[in-house]
Parts: sequence; structure tokens; C-alpha cells
Amino acid sequence: MTQYQPDEHRYEHMHYRRCGQSGLKLPRISLGLWHNFGDTAKQDNAKELICHAFDHGITHFDLANNYGPPPGAAEESFGRILKNNLRGYRDELIISTKAGYPMWTGPYGDGGSKKYLISSLDQSLKRMDLDYVDIFYHHRPDPNTPLEETMAALDLIVRQGKALYVGLSNYPAELTRRASQILKSMGTPCLIHQPKYSMFDRWIETDLLEVLSEEQIGCIVFSPLAGGLLTDRYLNGIPEDSRVATDGRFLKAADITDAKLKLISELNHLAYLRGQKLVQLALQWVLRQPTVTTALIGASKTSQIDDALQALHCVELSAKELSRIEEILSGGNQGT
Ligand SMILES: NC(=O)c1ccc[n+]([C@@H]2O[C@H](COP(=O)([O-])OP(=O)(O)OC[C@H]3O[C@@H](n4cnc5c(N)ncnc54)[C@H](OP(=O)(O)O)[C@@H]3O)[C@@H](O)[C@H]2O)c1
Repeated sequence: MTQYQPDEHRYEHMHYRRCGQSGLKLPRISLGLWHNFGDTAKQDNAKELICHAFDHGITHFDLANNYGPPPGAAEESFGRILKNNLRGYRDELIISTKAGYPMWTGPYGDGGSKKYLISSLDQSLKRMDLDYVDIFYHHRPDPNTPLEETMAALDLIVRQGKALYVGLSNYPAELTRRASQILKSMGTPCLIHQPKYSMFDRWIETDLLEVLSEEQIGCIVFSPLAGGLLTDRYLNGIPEDSRVATDGRFLKAADITDAKLKLISELNHLAYLRGQKLVQLALQWVLRQPTVTTALIGASKTSQIDDALQALHCVELSAKELSRIEEILSGGNQGT
């Protein structure tokens, strides 16, 4: 099979930012494989998405053991795409995976034990046909495993050469601080935190961003478009090819309330006045935080990746526009 020839100008328009105080630079837009890469996805489209992203300087692809459906399928699909198309480009890519949600039956296929994390990463490496991943995350806190054990597992994974860096996802602020201090004491600093963040979910503003800045940890925010709500996708009903219509596991028709639609329309209008799409406004808004290294988007079409990339070339949000966004968001909250 002929290998894909990436665009030789791929690094010219992307912006890269150092992840926390590490030496690793990440693109300001990263691509996640949670949806659209499982067995139900069109494999040609999956390949197009990866190659198109890479052609535009998106060097970071985010996976997890359980992405599919079924769990594991996204890693297998990504492994095939790499092998068949980008074999010579491994050193230009930052590939992450995670473990922390249920993956296999029995007592060792979930949680934060050393047994689960080490076995899961071994399986992920096989599925992707890789020797190592760049970043390995604990996907969510496990109250039933001592934090020291989970952090020791992350440290061991780096020492074994199976991951270059480690990260935490969905950890609240104080637990992040404790985990970071344990990791530092072992000589394997936490590179990055992966929390949910968008105009519709602002929990990280309370205290997590401050902890990340103090601990010098980078931040990759997931679902910055609220799964597609912060776009024009649902303004005129539920399109047949949308996440709500085709999947419905995580984003449901019931999430698109009249109050939400009012907010989305007002934000969409503000974006229109700025001469841009709501996608771009939503991405600029998360990237305005100095602690946020990169916005981790999902995409079902290459045109959605193009829309996201445009956010990097839009005029900065002014103080007046930022306060208008606050006004819209708080007006909506009063209405719900
Ligand atoms: N650590 C964790 O616990 C965790 C949890 C969730 C996600 N993640 C990571 O975050 C990544 C992104 O999550 P996400 O997919 O929810 O992110 P998102 O960027 O908020 O939503 C992506 C979806 O929005 C729609 N969309 C994107 N661009 C659009 C455009 N220009 N116009 C209209 N619709 C557009 C598409 O949905 P359609 O299918 O409708 O086209 C797309 O699949 C995941 O792949 C995963 O890597 C991590």
C-alpha cells in the first residue's frame, strides 16, 4: 500500500505552546478519537480525519483504552491508520492513551491499581502496534486505590519506557496537587491534566487552573465545543448525521433544551458579529486561559477540523466581548 504523503507546509500555520514547564510543545488544537473511530465509523473517513489533521500541523492525537465502540476499537483503528499511512512519521506525533474506566471483566479491569494500569497500557500498545505512547493518563480518580500506588504505577510506566510522560484526567484540584507532589518526589513530574472545559462547564475555573499553574502542569481541555452544542449544529433541529442522532450515549436530544438553544443562538449571533463561526468563538474562549495549553476537539468531518483551525487566526476577544459572553451565559443560567 502506498504511504500517505503529508503536506510539506504542515507546520506553517499551526501555533504550538509548551506544556506547563516541560520541554514538550503541543499544538493549540489537538484531535481526540473518542467518537468516529470505532467499529461503527467509516474507516475511510477515520483515515481522512487523521491525515487531514496532520496535514495542518495537528501533531497530537488523544485516545483511551475504552474508546470505540467496542472498547479498544479506536486504538485498533488508529494503529491501522498509522501503519498504512504515516509509518515514517512516528517521531512527529504525540500519541496519548489512558486507563481508568471499566475495560475488561474481573477485579483488574477498572480503577487505579498498578495491576490494571500496567496491563491496560500493554494491551493499548499491542492494539496500536506501538513500542511506547508519548503520554499515559490515569483517566479518573479511584477512591479505592491509594494515590501512592496509582502514582507509582505511572512512574514505573515511564521507567519501563512504555510512556514518555504521564498525566491525570478528571482529578479535582486538591487531589491533583497531592498526586503532582508524589510524582515529583519520584522524579516523574506530571506533564499534563485533562479536564472538561467549555462555556457550558466551567468547573476548572474554581481552583484547578490555579493548582495547575502553581504545579507547572500543562492543561488539555476536552469537549471545548460541549460535544457539538457550541456550534451551529443544532440551531435548526437535530441533523441526521449528528452525534445526538447517530450515537446518543453521551449527548442526548434531551440536553438540547429551549434555554440552551437560546444561549447557543445568542453566542452564535455574537460570533456572527465578529465575522466568525460559533466553533471559533468557543475555542478562542477556552484558549484565552494562559494555563490552557491546547483545546482537544472531536470531529466527524474534515471541514470541522478546518473550522477549528480558523480559530487560531481570528481577532482576539476584546474585554467587551468577554463581558458580553458572561452576560449571555449568566442570563441563560437564570432562565434554566
Ligand atoms: N478525559 C476524559 O474523560 C474525556 C472525556 C470525553 C472526551 N475526551 C477527549 O476529548 C475529545 C473531544 O471530545 P468531544 O468530541 O466531546 O469534543 P467537542 O469538540 O466538544 O465535540 C466534538 C463534536 O462537535 C461537533 N463539531 C465539531 N466541529 C464542528 C463544526 N465545525 N460544526 C458543527 N459541529 C461540529 C462534531 O459532532 P458531530 O458528530 O455531530 O458532527 C464533533 O464530533 C475526545 O475525542 C477525547 O479524546 C476526554
